[in-house]
Amino acid sequence: KYLREDDISQKCRDLLPSLPHEKGWITPSLHQYQGFWVAPKLLNGVLACQDNFQAQKTDIFIITAPKSGTTWLKAILFCLSNRAKYSGSMQQHPLLTQSPHDLVPFLELKLYFGQEIPNLTSLPPPRLFATHVPYQSLPQSVKDSGCKLVYLYRNPKDTFVSLWHFANKLRSKETGGMPLGECLDAFCKGVSPFGPYWDHAEGYHKMSLEMPDRVRLEVRGHERGPPWSWCPFAEEELRDGTVDGIVRMCSFDSLSMLEVNKSGKLSTGQETKSYFRKGEVGDWMNYMSVEMGERIDRVMQEKMHGSGLKL
Ligand code: A3P
Repeated sequence: KYLREDDISQKCRDLLPSLPHEKGWITPSLHQYQGFWVAPKLLNGVLACQDNFQAQKTDIFIITAPKSGTTWLKAILFCLSNRAKYSGSMQQHPLLTQSPHDLVPFLELKLYFGQEIPNLTSLPPPRLFATHVPYQSLPQSVKDSGCKLVYLYRNPKDTFVSLWHFANKLRSKETGGMPLGECLDAFCKGVSPFGPYWDHAEGYHKMSLEMPDRVRLEVRGHERGPPWSWCPFAEEELRDGTVDGIVRMCSFDSLSMLEVNKSGKLSTGQETKSYFRKGEVGDWMNYMSVEMGERIDRVMQEKMHGSGLKL
């Protein structure tokens, strides 16, 4: 079901030659569109959702740069939104048999990935969607509808190492893996999928300050209390273990042990296991020298100077 070359829309084909391009991490090339870097097939999805997606006020968006913890956040928000439905029947919980990526679909990577425009109007509220698209390029209706956006930010060094592993796993056998140093150069130039990483975070950070009731920024590993104040728990839920149950169910250990996440395939074709590697904070130290780590720190500091976004 993966998109074929001839599924790319004419609009996307016409646009591509005019866009700056660089070597890609997974696909042969990344193209710069509205300030961010995107693979041609994903640009197709970005354009389709920009043109067609109609947000509703009750929608909740999970927004991340790739490899910042999307899988975990999708699982958490799915559990939170559906907790009343499954409170007495956890054995029936969809997360036990379906990937978080199929339960909370990406706009550009799944719903609008092919030529077909999906009809999403009949989905019951609150509809949960995910996207990697930077704030400036979100469909206009997402900005105008009053819906809520939850943005997850992860330490850039861990995100970088996670992305490097993921890209090499997805790269074809013929092209082989990309050396870490080459990816580091690209990342520090801002050329990474949906990057520059700093612009992505900065865009949502700014909006979270301007519209705190609509855009919420969480830092992976530093979540502020039970996730989150938009889904307040009843006293009883705090007492009866609902909160602990959700946190446990969505933990790396629990999710990665499930058959669906060990040997399943997403409806878009990828192996579900590629979304679970280690799930650890600080794993970058096992792959990068101190100097390499400092290089990312320096770039982030330079680019985000004064933004106030801290880990
Ligand atoms: P690592 O490669 O550092 O292990 P994304 O979900 O945005 O694609 O990010 C993938 C990263 O999140 C991977 O990081 C993966 O192992 C980690 N991850 C996946 N599920 C997780 C969970 N339930 N809890 C914590 N980390 C998780």
